[in-house]
Amino acid sequence: MRIIALVNQKGGCGKTTTAINLASCLANAGKKVLLIDLDPQGHVALGLGIGTEEMDKSIYEVLLGETPITNAIVSLSDNLDAVLSDVVLSAFEQSMAGTPGRENRLRQSLKIVANDYDYLIIDSPPSVGLLTFNGLMASNEVIIPVDPSYFSLHGLGKLLETIQIIEERAGHELSIKILATNIDLRTNFCKEVLATLIEHFSDKCFDSVIHTCTRIREATSHGKSVVEYDKHCNAFRDYQELTQEILGQEADMEAKVSRFELLSDIEKEEEQRTVTFTVEAPVDADVQIAGDFNQWKPEVLNFTDKPEDPTWQKIFTLSPGSYEYKYLVNGLWVVDPDNDKIADNPLGGTNSVIDV
Ligand SMILES: Nc1ncnc2c1ncn2[C@@H]1O[C@H](COP(=O)(O)OP(=O)(O)O)[C@@H](O)[C@H]1O
Ligand SMILES: [Mg+2]
Repeated sequence: MRIIALVNQKGGCGKTTTAINLASCLANAGKKVLLIDLDPQGHVALGLGIGTEEMDKSIYEVLLGETPITNAIVSLSDNLDAVLSDVVLSAFEQSMAGTPGRENRLRQSLKIVANDYDYLIIDSPPSVGLLTFNGLMASNEVIIPVDPSYFSLHGLGKLLETIQIIEERAGHELSIKILATNIDLRTNFCKEVLATLIEHFSDKCFDSVIHTCTRIREATSHGKSVVEYDKHCNAFRDYQELTQEILGQEADMEAKVSRFELLSDIEKEEEQRTVTFTVEAPVDADVQIAGDFNQWKPEVLNFTDKPEDPTWQKIFTLSPGSYEYKYLVNGLWVVDPDNDKIADNPLGGTNSVIDV
């Protein structure tokens, strides 16, 4: 069984569109496919025209361990099944806070269907949080859809770094491929983006490219894949080509990760680390910290009573990974003055970054 996650922290780059259409084309090619939605926005259900009344259990109950995945499977056609999500999934990160092994919830839940499918396709939310980590830890392969925008190119390097950290720290190998999406070759900007991708990441890029196609938007609004909606449009041709390219890698991939069951046998307990955050500030200051590790909810630091060196500190137990954070000193957000590693944040400022 090949397990492929669609990942990119940027929204609107074609993750869900690719997940739905790749899964449909693979099923159309005779493969048994399970499509899993890890995004609380529930776009897979919307894109396939499935109402909430058809969904008895969602991926949320599966990840919490309340029900086996087999109870959450919705059958879409002979070869295509799905496990869907809805907005309650956004509570997952918080309900799992501090629980050891929380990155491996999806991986664990898949064991019972390991022999039932040829392909598992996992759609992820537009963030690199616990849900995406679950997708990556469950997968052997990652497809990063990249649409032609400055933000996509900008985020690509950081995403590759994050995946590399997961690989190293968790000892979990992933084969990474980049897929150019929404490409309109009539614009110079698209041509430049494509050229930049090939120049910097040629070994990682699929030969197939997904061109801009209005039929995709129409198909989505009708709750259908392009396989169902229009077998003559460019998007169907592009996704068919991508499917053939992926099918063509089968021998290679199977040699790399022979069987999922073997992989699950060598799972190890996740190693947690203690990290102490310290910042200098006067004794009467109000000092808090917020970051990816506490869902950006500011928490008060403790004052360490050394008059010559007034320091505030807080200890967190963190799983391996990359975390962004900031201090809140007397109501003002500041980056960590003792940490040179920073990242741009969506608000136009910067955050400090720590690799655990
Ligand atoms: N090749 C394409 N041509 C035209 N529109 C596209 C194409 N791929 C995706 N879209 C549209 O772009 C929007 C965002 O795509 P989506 O797959 O939902 O992105 P993501 O899941 O990464 O947020 C959707 O409205 C989708 O219909
Ligand atoms: Mg999506």
